[in-house]
Amino acid sequence: MDKIVLASNNAHKVAELQAFMRDVYPGVTVLSLRDIGYTAEIVEDGDTFEDNALIKARTIAALGYTAIADDSGLMVDALDGAPGVYSARYAGEPCDNAANNEKLLSELRDVPDEKRTAKFVSVIAMVTPDGSEIIARGECRGTILREYRGNGGFGYDPLFFYEPYGRTFAELTPDEKNRISHRAAAIADLKVRLSQTERK
Ligand code: IMP
Repeated sequence: MDKIVLASNNAHKVAELQAFMRDVYPGVTVLSLRDIGYTAEIVEDGDTFEDNALIKARTIAALGYTAIADDSGLMVDALDGAPGVYSARYAGEPCDNAANNEKLLSELRDVPDEKRTAKFVSVIAMVTPDGSEIIARGECRGTILREYRGNGGFGYDPLFFYEPYGRTFAELTPDEKNRISHRAAAIADLKVRLSQTERK
């Protein structure tokens, strides 16, 4: 394997996954969808993060590349796991982070503090052109605040309070977030699964 394609157009995620790939596979060229001239939209219509990550990775693997794709989102316990796979378009299309956060605050208005628990979930799928598939998953637990705190990060970060650091994700430095995030956990899980596959 000399090339891996990251099936994502989200610059935040591409940067994180690129760093990981360089670490695990030094010498491998990491390409984005733009790099391979792929401009079509991949319809993510799965019911789970796993389904959506696989849809994206399989689409690119079918073109002859080893492909990695991730799907992620927020699952709020008091909302039975919503917004889940609809996290990006919770308040409608196109993705509007401010509107998503306002909707979340309004849905949770009557939910008491101790019931505002939630988790971010990240699933990473790696698919090779010969059809072998690896799925990795990571989670990070927190609670949803009643008002915004912090200016960093993206998406639901200003409302997601991470108890061990006593701050929201939007108040963490990128390095701090990258150490404990759901994506970091999924990447760690992928590393373990890849090393198990190589030993077989
Ligand atoms: P995806 O790009 O289809 O994986 O959708 C991810 C959506 O989940 C984003 O648009 C955000 O709303 C939310 N999300 C995923 N990861 C994070 C994160 O690290 N911080 C804040 N929001 C996130």
